[in-house]
Amino acid sequence: MENKIIDESVQGTATMLNTTKNNVSGTKKLYVESYGCQMNFSDSEVVASIMNKNGYSTTRDIDEADVVLINTCSIRENAETRVRNRLTEFKSKKAKRPDLVIGILGCMAERLKKSLLEEEKLVDLVAGPDAYRDLPNLVEEVGTGQKAVNVLLSRDETYADISPIRLDQGGISAFVTIMRGCDNMCSFCVVPFTRGRERSRDPETIVNECKDLFEQGYREVTLLGQNVDSYRWNLSSKGEIKDSNQPTVNFAQLMEKVAQVSSDLRIRFSTSHPKDMTDEVLEMMAKYENICSYIHLPVQSGSTTVLDRMNRSYTREWYLERISAIRRIVPDCAISTDIITGFCNETENEHADTLSLMNEVAFDFAYMFKYSERPKTLAERRFEDDVPEDVKSRRLNEIIENQLHHSLKSNQKQIGQIQKILVEGYSKRSDEFLSGRNTQNAVVVFPKETAQKGAYVYVKIEDCTSATLMGNIVHK
Ligand code: 5AD
Ligand code: SF4
Repeated sequence: MENKIIDESVQGTATMLNTTKNNVSGTKKLYVESYGCQMNFSDSEVVASIMNKNGYSTTRDIDEADVVLINTCSIRENAETRVRNRLTEFKSKKAKRPDLVIGILGCMAERLKKSLLEEEKLVDLVAGPDAYRDLPNLVEEVGTGQKAVNVLLSRDETYADISPIRLDQGGISAFVTIMRGCDNMCSFCVVPFTRGRERSRDPETIVNECKDLFEQGYREVTLLGQNVDSYRWNLSSKGEIKDSNQPTVNFAQLMEKVAQVSSDLRIRFSTSHPKDMTDEVLEMMAKYENICSYIHLPVQSGSTTVLDRMNRSYTREWYLERISAIRRIVPDCAISTDIITGFCNETENEHADTLSLMNEVAFDFAYMFKYSERPKTLAERRFEDDVPEDVKSRRLNEIIENQLHHSLKSNQKQIGQIQKILVEGYSKRSDEFLSGRNTQNAVVVFPKETAQKGAYVYVKIEDCTSATLMGNIVHK
């Protein structure tokens, strides 16, 4: 899968759900912790909503929880290691409070199924990504002394009708899931096994959710899917209409509908696949000022032979042509990517191809990973994970160093510009400064003056590091 991730294993972001106004007060308390991609964070909000309807209110204090759920990621081995460590901590809490229900959700639940419950005895409950409606029953089953498992994958579950309870992000920016699952078979990736087949969510429910968010004060939505370019409503994968009485909607058309909710609502999306990203999507980005000029387009490798082993369905040249299309149609667009280094049989020349592609594209940002072999994947079955660990580390360092240089240059180019910034809150370092993002998704920090969270301000960029832009508000 590809998702612009808040990297689970590297940054270890775990977010707890906050009590919000649409959270009916229940007598029982639920604590949820999330790891992994944005999709997982979004799913936890669906889970909170389902549990809320069944009498659970969310808490940020694990010690007052009746049910503890951990939403997990399997994408790399170290993501799973972190979760196992956390589960061991939970187990010691359970030793003191035997009534506490501990459940595992998400990709690890799907991948490991009963083993965490039966062999390792780390949890009481296991629910895969398509089984969240069943959670209240599963919790009840645990209460009657049974081991509760539901890891059935569905062909049509999209949780379309569920109104998520929002994570505590300050109420400015929200994730909206538009599709689930993935039909690509990238040879390194576990996601087709953990999240099942691709399916799109009813566009009307998506637009309504975005309208509600705007009315609640949100000013940015990120449309989420493993491969947003293959969003299709009432269309087969070959583009044929399924039901002639129903409208058809592709991703570009969906973006347009969301963009029309309000010109003050920013639209982002993640993740795009280079083989599917169409000019129609780019043209829609160019047409609407509120569709942000930012694309996350994972390349994975700059070598056509590695891309072939990865089963990515495109070549280096194809990828570079898609980059040219972005530059032509959305000239101010920032581009970020994902890169895997040390994939099976990767030679020094193939690695050099990745570095040269990075130089050719000059990505504004990149998420970079060492290859981590995952059970059951095509790569595990077909190839040997034969690049030694020290070589993987050295190549990763070379890639990171190269990217730092490009990120710094990308930020330096913006000095002197006046940019429209959506204020997200105080900066991490000081309450005298605000932090927000420009349309290209770069973080901008500036003295607060009288500006408020959720407002748009114009900031003149004065300085930068490779990670952040700094400036001052200008009054136009
Ligand atoms: N090893 C390392 N990185 C991986 N990714 C996916 N699977 C693996 C793996 N087995 C990376 C890809 C993907 C991102 C979400 O995680 O770069 O785009
Ligand atoms: Fe998200 Fe699951 Fe993929 Fe991790 S493995 S990035 S949680 S879809």
